[in-house]
Amino acid sequence: MNLVSVPGRPVTGTASVPGDKSISHRAALFAGLSSGECQVRNFLVAGVTQVMLEALTVLEIDWSLDGTTLNVQGGGLKRKVEKEEPIRIDCGNSGTSMRLLAGAVAALGVPAVLDGSDRLRGRPMRRITAPLKKMGVDIQASPQGTAPVKIAYRPANRRLNSLVYRLPVASAQVKSCLLLAALAADGETVLQEPGPSRDHTERMLRAMGARVESSLITSAVDGEQQIKTHFIPPDPLVLEPFHLILPGDFSSAAFLIVAALITPGSKIKLPGVGLNPTRTGLLDVLREMGAEITFTNQRESCGEPLGDLTVHYSKLRGVSISGSTVVRMIDEFPIFAVAAAFAEGKSVVSEAEELRHKESDRIHDLCIELRNLGADVEEASDGFKINGTGMLRGGRAASHADHRLAMALAVSGLAAEDPVEVEGADILSESYPQFIQTLRNLGASINYLGQENA
Ligand code: S3P
Repeated sequence: MNLVSVPGRPVTGTASVPGDKSISHRAALFAGLSSGECQVRNFLVAGVTQVMLEALTVLEIDWSLDGTTLNVQGGGLKRKVEKEEPIRIDCGNSGTSMRLLAGAVAALGVPAVLDGSDRLRGRPMRRITAPLKKMGVDIQASPQGTAPVKIAYRPANRRLNSLVYRLPVASAQVKSCLLLAALAADGETVLQEPGPSRDHTERMLRAMGARVESSLITSAVDGEQQIKTHFIPPDPLVLEPFHLILPGDFSSAAFLIVAALITPGSKIKLPGVGLNPTRTGLLDVLREMGAEITFTNQRESCGEPLGDLTVHYSKLRGVSISGSTVVRMIDEFPIFAVAAAFAEGKSVVSEAEELRHKESDRIHDLCIELRNLGADVEEASDGFKINGTGMLRGGRAASHADHRLAMALAVSGLAAEDPVEVEGADILSESYPQFIQTLRNLGASINYLGQENA
């Protein structure tokens, strides 16, 4: 379905954003591995998390959803039945589901085939299969190192090897996969990462009684910083059940934040947004660009920081982004690029090659679509440059089946000279089904084509 956003109306008022996607994935899976009844409130009910819930069913873990409250009866870390035939898990478009489930399935020793959409089949899986093989997991991807990923049966009495491993790219999905597999390891696993990827898995493991320690290490030779994570499986091998209330997803809030920043006359309040510092790189960047964003009521819920954000329309200027800030805002580049197009001056993103391996190629596809809307954009191998003019022409653009690209392009239409039409925008329901209604409630003119007056 195509979506049209029309300029000329400020966004004003208060809006809540849905529960955090990354924590929802982990909460569902870890609840399933826990030793009892878990409850997760403000769970994200959306395409990608449905995939995870269906995987729990395949793993014979009972769950029920009542609105946004998820109840799970944990099955523990021992598989219930000895399977001969591999179970089949369809991960749809969800890279997080595939990588986390590979770790969990490896820990349980259940034979499985994990597969997904064509786009997911194009995303790199060697980053998990290589270290899992080192742990003794019998795992195969396609010759190109992509899904389907096949994991063989492992007898319950054979533990996996503990792992000392340096991740070539900072990735919470890979780190979480390996920490999950490490639950079945015979000793301490030590992971070293070249940047601060999101740490929701570590926080959740701690909340379940496990010991995970992370520290920042700086090389005496070149000053390079690495994050080191140590994990020893609990003994006895039990993860305590939990009751959680999830924070609002900062990555969903980011679209509303930028909508308010670029649309004259806007002022919005977003209560209860997750403010985990491994996720909020975009806030630091926007503030450096001149954005007026304030935090109040900062607090912690179940080990995760959150707070209320107030955002005013602001004049933005260009900015440069590289290094660990890239990692701390890895999902926010589509909407950052929109902010940069509406800023005055040059913005430069570098050391961000990883963006090519997301739901779309978020360097190439993003540059093409912003250019279609009139932006002055230059693609680089590891990022892009945008010469911001304070305005965008508008027009027609495509989502490339990427939920965040769809929402970012839609937001640009709220402040452009002409409306923006986004092709294939219904993909946004993968992570933020309420996106259009929330913006409409805040006063924006946005809807699916054919539903303009609805
Ligand atoms: C996620 C980690 C990120 C992010 C993805 C969700 C997670 O991927 O892009 O949307 O929940 O662990 P990488 O950690 O692989 O960069």
